[in-house]
Amino acid sequence: MRRATLSLTAFTILISACSQDTYDPSHDYFSFANTDQFVTRHIDLDLTVDFSAEQLHGNAILHMDRIDPSATEVILDTRGLHISGIHVAVADGSMVPAEFGLGEDDAIEGTPLIISLPADFSPGSEFRMKIDYRTGPDASALQWLPPELTAGGKHPFIFTQSQAIHARSWIPLQDTPAVRITYSAIIHTPRELLAVMSANNDPLTPRTGEYHFDMPQPIPSYLVALAVGNIFFVPLGDQTGVYTEPEVLDAAAFEFSGTQDMLDIASELFGDYQWGRYDLLVLPPSFPYGGMENPRLSFITPSLLAGDHSLVSVIAHELAHSWSGNLVTNATWRDQWLNEGTTSYLESRLMEVLYSKDRVDEERVLGYEELMLNIETIDPVWQALAPQLDSGDPDSFQGTIHYHKGQLLLEYLEHAFGRESFDKFIGAYFEDFAFATITSEKFLDYLDENLLQVHQGKVSRSQVETWLYEPGLPSDAPVPTSATLEQAAAMALAWSQGELVLNEIPTGSWSPQAMRHFINSLPAELSDDELGQLDQALGLSVAGNAEIGRTWFIQVAKRQYQAAYENLEKHLNRYGRTRLVAPVYRALAENGSDLELAREMFARARGKYHPLTIASISRALQPASD
Ligand code: BES
Ligand code: ZN
Repeated sequence: MRRATLSLTAFTILISACSQDTYDPSHDYFSFANTDQFVTRHIDLDLTVDFSAEQLHGNAILHMDRIDPSATEVILDTRGLHISGIHVAVADGSMVPAEFGLGEDDAIEGTPLIISLPADFSPGSEFRMKIDYRTGPDASALQWLPPELTAGGKHPFIFTQSQAIHARSWIPLQDTPAVRITYSAIIHTPRELLAVMSANNDPLTPRTGEYHFDMPQPIPSYLVALAVGNIFFVPLGDQTGVYTEPEVLDAAAFEFSGTQDMLDIASELFGDYQWGRYDLLVLPPSFPYGGMENPRLSFITPSLLAGDHSLVSVIAHELAHSWSGNLVTNATWRDQWLNEGTTSYLESRLMEVLYSKDRVDEERVLGYEELMLNIETIDPVWQALAPQLDSGDPDSFQGTIHYHKGQLLLEYLEHAFGRESFDKFIGAYFEDFAFATITSEKFLDYLDENLLQVHQGKVSRSQVETWLYEPGLPSDAPVPTSATLEQAAAMALAWSQGELVLNEIPTGSWSPQAMRHFINSLPAELSDDELGQLDQALGLSVAGNAEIGRTWFIQVAKRQYQAAYENLEKHLNRYGRTRLVAPVYRALAENGSDLELAREMFARARGKYHPLTIASISRALQPASD
């Protein structure tokens, strides 16, 4: 088959996606796959991890259903993959070569892979297709780390980050959350290393360099995950444990010792845990997120290792995704608030039981402040929970809107209907949509039928529509408050006005959240001398809590407090999580005099960062005219 014809097919698809008169909420605008004609049920992977070539190579066998009997062309998502051959099982069971070609590249979505089914293709609806391939040098899901970027410094490490649309850069597949697959995998690695996946990891597996996995529960493609490195395991509870490099193992086991309790409480609150084990994988510092909810094995940033359990709300968050996101999944990236907003709400419910309402209220206030700042700066179109998105990069949709506005909507509903009714509703929602995907519109219908109409006169459908489709917040949205944070803010003011001396501030009994709020509440006009006293007394520049560091160094940069720049640069080199570093670069770039310095610091640290983090910092450091 010739490339020209193939490109034409792909082109038609692109055009039809963009020229829709009416937005189709059940269509995934971020995938080329023709899921109305074919659906993948299962994938068998056989991949070799080649560190010297920085390449995965092997094959994927897709078990597919043809749901449209007249369809003869399968379109899959890829990005930068080199496909060396495709075979399709035909009527007599043998595998025959299939013709295939690539469509046009798209900078964000990658390249459609178009496969023509052979003429003697099995007439049954189920069939298998084997794709031999290797990954490209810039596979967006993969980060290949040289030994010096690991804790031990002796072995290389690789991890995947497939959300949102990066799975296609290491597996040719239908890369849309609307399709759920089970998978099996054989992973070949250097003998001394261990592979782990979002599957049935066996903590006792012998280290042979060949590892077998099964994921029997159907999951969306963005949850397929792999990591390989000098990884070891420590159990935390019956069903829980932590994987990481030996150098970090003790610290991780201490920090996350409460994980089994969290899982038990979550199962009581949200319904049975459906996934068997719940383990954590603590990654090298360049992991770009706080956490990623890969099923059975959340991927976690080492920046949570504060030594005092103070950042475990991120674990609560990733664990909560086992219900909201992994069990009930957003149908497309435009519905991301259903994953992230619901999870943020569940996270706070978990933290309330594990810690206290006060701690949760502190987190809620900080989240609310981030949301308000975000609302000030982003286009109104993006402020809706369920905007009509049909283009752009789904990674850049990650903002506080999905998280905090989504969480506020659920808090609003909880408040209106009472916790008991709302908990019943949420439990039924997880049961009714278990292992399914859901659009915002389906959610609205379900909510209407099962909550709004059951207890009439409390919240109308159109009120919920305002949350989903309008910018900003409705006037009756909840406003979180926290007495301890208010006190911290009052003390920041009193100190700056000379009404209080530093050693009268009871920071020893403060939570990290109170400390962050104190820092954020400092008035604009403080002298370097005053900032120095603060830093000295509260140890801000050397804080072990990465969120305190983030908050402080943003202020340091905004205020051009140069005495702390050396420590600021240390912060930028210690952490690779985008949230911890990108806003500090941005604050430097925007303070009116340090754009060049920010660029120099970036040039020095860049080699340690993940490509997603590099992209985010690069955006922050573009000249203002861009
Ligand atoms: N699933 C997200 C991370 C993500 C979102 C990756 C969008 C790619 C695209 C994860 O659950 C998450 O929300 N992480 C947060 C944790 C926080 C909100 C507790 C993070 O990394 O900051
Ligand atoms: Zn999340």
